Amino acid sequence: MNKIKKYVLIVAIIVICVGIGIYVILPLLNMEDKIVSGDESEVITLPKPRYESETSIEKALFERRSVRDYKDEPLNLTEVSQLLWSAQGITDPKGYRAAPSAGALYPLELYVVAGNVYNLPDGIYKYYPHSHELTRVVEGDKRTELCNAALGQSHVRDAAAVIVFSAVYERTTVKYGERGIRYVHIEVGHAAQNIYLQAVSLDLGTCVVGAFTDGEVREVINMLDEEHPLYIMTVGKK
Ligand SMILES: Cc1cc2nc3c(=O)[nH]c(=O)nc-3n(C[C@H](O)[C@H](O)[C@H](O)COP(=O)(O)O)c2cc1C
Repeated sequence: MNKIKKYVLIVAIIVICVGIGIYVILPLLNMEDKIVSGDESEVITLPKPRYESETSIEKALFERRSVRDYKDEPLNLTEVSQLLWSAQGITDPKGYRAAPSAGALYPLELYVVAGNVYNLPDGIYKYYPHSHELTRVVEGDKRTELCNAALGQSHVRDAAAVIVFSAVYERTTVKYGERGIRYVHIEVGHAAQNIYLQAVSLDLGTCVVGAFTDGEVREVINMLDEEHPLYIMTVGKK
């Protein structure tokens, strides 16, 4: 092999190695924001939540505000993961969660209406706290329909993602009777406040929405018959 051929061979090997680096190794390093399930379109394993930050609880309380104006910028899966974990994430091997629940009966369900989230196809997803996964229940961007169900409040349409809380009252009323209804309503407040405080720590804007037509929200989300919509939270970059 003459000198020129050797030179060409070495350059070719370098180009191939760099190519492998870019297309194989780099994406692996950035796995936490990737869809990592077997079926990419249906089940999304969320990045592991973090349990520490530079934001003190006092700062989060002081800075918490309802924010309704959002930049047209995407959230990432790490942010979505952290917000969902703050509301209902598992924080104890016995199954206890980030928010308290009467009798540890956990009547709340969470949905994410995604319209502008990196690596999350537009759609509606249900959150599963034990596996920290999302499962898609509706395809496509449903923010405008949800906005209409929320009396046309524009921040529901403009948010990068919208979190919807529903409740299965029977999980709590089976033990506490009528009083369980009160407990469920208190619980959704606990969970929503956690999201408010977590949003401060992530430097995101969020706002609760209580004004909506139950039947329309239920229809947009495609909720199970046993679930009742309770609360909505819009989220976006501020
Ligand atoms: C139960 C409840 C329902 C609410 N519903 C709405 C709503 O439908 N739309 C909205 O923009 N804000 C809603 N808010 C947010 C309040 O307007 C907001 O908390 C209030 O203006 C005080 O502002 P702050 O949250 O920044 O302290 C609601 C708040 C609560 C507690």
